[in-house]
Amino acid sequence: MRKKIVAGNWKMNCLQEEGQKLTSEIVNMIKDEPTADVTVVLNPPYVHLHAVNKLIAGVDRLHLGGQNCSDQASGAYTGEISASMLASFGASYVIIGHSERRQYFNETNELLTAKTRQALDNGLQPIFCCGEPLEIREAGTHEAYVKEQLTASLFNFSEEELKKIVIAYEPIWAIGTGKTASSDQAQDMHAAIRKHLAGKYGDAAANEISILYGGSCKPDNAKEIFSKTDVDGGLIGGASLKSRDFVAIIQSF
Ligand code: G3H
Repeated sequence: MRKKIVAGNWKMNCLQEEGQKLTSEIVNMIKDEPTADVTVVLNPPYVHLHAVNKLIAGVDRLHLGGQNCSDQASGAYTGEISASMLASFGASYVIIGHSERRQYFNETNELLTAKTRQALDNGLQPIFCCGEPLEIREAGTHEAYVKEQLTASLFNFSEEELKKIVIAYEPIWAIGTGKTASSDQAQDMHAAIRKHLAGKYGDAAANEISILYGGSCKPDNAKEIFSKTDVDGGLIGGASLKSRDFVAIIQSF
């Protein structure tokens, strides 16, 4: 059985009190929930990590994650946050290579290998993002594009390391646009990703990897998307900022 995961990526949202209110509402809504086999990860901005960690303490399936980490271990890198710092603040996951980081902060495949290495070396599970822009989807080369992202950044890791990585497939044209990939489009890509991982690491390892869908996932489409064989959960942006919507998505499994 693969782990089912719903991760909320708050992106650059929530002032101090808003983040605490959001977290408290989520905690109150799910602490006694029967869908306890779904792992939930909250990925707030760094400044919220300490408070969110305290608020989720005691709810076993709630976990903390960063939205990014440095490719360096420590030292004179002003403004950066290391994977070891995230771990020391209670994080167990970190998003690596979100398309917004690739696009606005010029993160390359090579850099993402180094960040993934930092995450793994510090006991964090990377949520490694991949996904194609609209022009690649329209050209019909989206599977090759995503496979290349994975090959370039991840294929030097060992099988044991790979098994700790969560993949998030996010078609860029569906992020924050209200446009969702159809459940069949998501399934086709997730199956292609799993096959690609199997080609390098074997079926057994590939079958253990959770592959999340991200891109305008909402309460009204989550159930259909999560029903697909190779979709093991979601990386949720906008809808993770509304406690009711986020919890409804978690309950869609
Ligand atoms: O990290 C989350 C994804 O970018 C999806 O964002 O749900 O706002 O489309 P969205």
